[in-house]
Amino acid sequence: MSYVLIIGAKSDIAKEVAKEYANAGYDLYLASREIESLAKFENDLKVRSQIDIKLLEFDLLDFDSHESFYNSLNPKPTITICVAGYLGEQKKAQTDFNEAKKIIDTNYTGCVSILNIVANDYEKNRVGSIVGVSSVAGDRGRKSNYIYGSSKAGFSAYLSGLRNRLHDFNVKVLTVKPGFVYTKMTENLDLPQKLTATPEDVAKDIFKAEQSGKDVLYTKWIWRFIMLIIKHIPEWIFKKMSI
Ligand SMILES: NC(=O)c1ccc[n+]([C@@H]2O[C@H](COP(=O)([O-])OP(=O)(O)OC[C@H]3O[C@@H](n4cnc5c(N)ncnc54)[C@H](OP(=O)(O)O)[C@@H]3O)[C@@H](O)[C@H]2O)c1
Repeated sequence: MSYVLIIGAKSDIAKEVAKEYANAGYDLYLASREIESLAKFENDLKVRSQIDIKLLEFDLLDFDSHESFYNSLNPKPTITICVAGYLGEQKKAQTDFNEAKKIIDTNYTGCVSILNIVANDYEKNRVGSIVGVSSVAGDRGRKSNYIYGSSKAGFSAYLSGLRNRLHDFNVKVLTVKPGFVYTKMTENLDLPQKLTATPEDVAKDIFKAEQSGKDVLYTKWIWRFIMLIIKHIPEWIFKKMSI
């Protein structure tokens, strides 16, 4: 079976995605900047699924290492899933450019850096599937998180262009736009239960969408309609709202 590369493998969503692919028999490259803490997860998954798993050190912000990281993979993954992200602190990012830059570089620049390399390989071989986990926050800027939102907007636009570029080369690109998800990223937020997904639900949606060659996935599905409404609120009203 072929390998799936999961970037940001320590993420709560990524771990559930890993389980989905392991259950389907795929081997896994789990890339994280702290692989020691994935050892137990790796062992449990290996015992349960009888697949091969390799843990790999990877930092999205270490742009210069990305080429050699990908070159070192043998065999190459046929599916690459970029889950890593950084919410950051909006208030801090408004006055501290280092925080703003970390948000932008994690959610946009770093993902572009590694996915450019993956995309060129898949284009050359005319095979492969790329999944990028963006966010509904990228669909419209809001005062509460527009630095994070704009980095995800950039990532969504990047994935859209990449999909367009790779269409003729038999390479699929899936953009994932989660709404609220119960993970460590949102553990301090008071989330509305009805609109909030579990990482397990999101992972199931991602697996199904990737395997069926879907282009854009909103998860939960209701977010497609919520964002359609939000995007259509006229700017003169939207700028007075607190959502
Ligand atoms: N939770 C939500 O409500 C929600 C909603 C919309 C979109 N999303 C997106 O879903 C994705 C997964 O997030 P999550 O909710 O599962 O949160 P999470 O558990 O906090 O996962 C984020 C992961 O990104 C990794 N990461 C951060 N900076 C990195 C870097 N420089 N290099 C490599 N990895 C890095 C983190 O690694 P460490 O574990 O080492 O810190 C962490 O494992 C993110 O892209 C997020 O923006 C989440």
